[in-house]
Amino acid sequence: MNPSYSSNIHVLQHPLLQHKLTLLRDTNTAKKLFNELVHEITIMLAYEATRSLPTQAKIVQTPIATTEGAEIAEKKCVILPILRAGLSMVNGFLTLMPAAPVGHIGLFRDEKTLEPKEYYFRIPQHSEQRRIFVCDPMLATGGSACRAIHQLKKRNIHQIIFVCLVAAPEGIQRLQQEHPETPVYTACIDQQLNEQGFIVPGLGDAGDRLFGTQEDV
Ligand code: PRP
Repeated sequence: MNPSYSSNIHVLQHPLLQHKLTLLRDTNTAKKLFNELVHEITIMLAYEATRSLPTQAKIVQTPIATTEGAEIAEKKCVILPILRAGLSMVNGFLTLMPAAPVGHIGLFRDEKTLEPKEYYFRIPQHSEQRRIFVCDPMLATGGSACRAIHQLKKRNIHQIIFVCLVAAPEGIQRLQQEHPETPVYTACIDQQLNEQGFIVPGLGDAGDRLFGTQEDV
């Protein structure tokens, strides 16, 4: 990994994750498998991204004895997908934290300026007292992620973690500049952005591959 990235940037190296990511990149991977892979990779990313959740002691009675276990010691976390493509990561998080409330932020990139346009924002009650996992498969210029985090901070929400599948160095750098305290969890940091703002090698347009919006049939 590039040594100029801060310790807040976590690139997961698990072999199963890298195997699945390679299948995900493959242009011949069809919609059903693409969605399944995003789900499976998200579970692994979410497992790591939740590693620092605080716990407290909890006494439990097993069929054999009483013992001290542990339980999460804070309010339920919030899952905040960036629409559309972030929706594909919600069930991965819910697999690990089924009771977590889910917010939504709607952003799409202007094709010319590459700047995000916001069209929807709704977050659960008391989000300022909760940890928020902002999720989006792609971090390209970083404009969408930075906008989402900015909107949360404006509402006095500061415990924010960003989770993506594929990141461009440009996006990581922008996030580090604008929101240096926000941890990032990703399956990889690719080479660069191309002139159209696509991640190279990347995996194409995640939203279109997830929802089939560019298919001929
Ligand atoms: C894609 C992707 C991210 C964003 C990343 O979404 O899912 O949200 O672009 O680019 P950025 O880092 O340069 O902001 P898009 O805007 O295409 O919308 P969609 O999810 O509705 O397809």
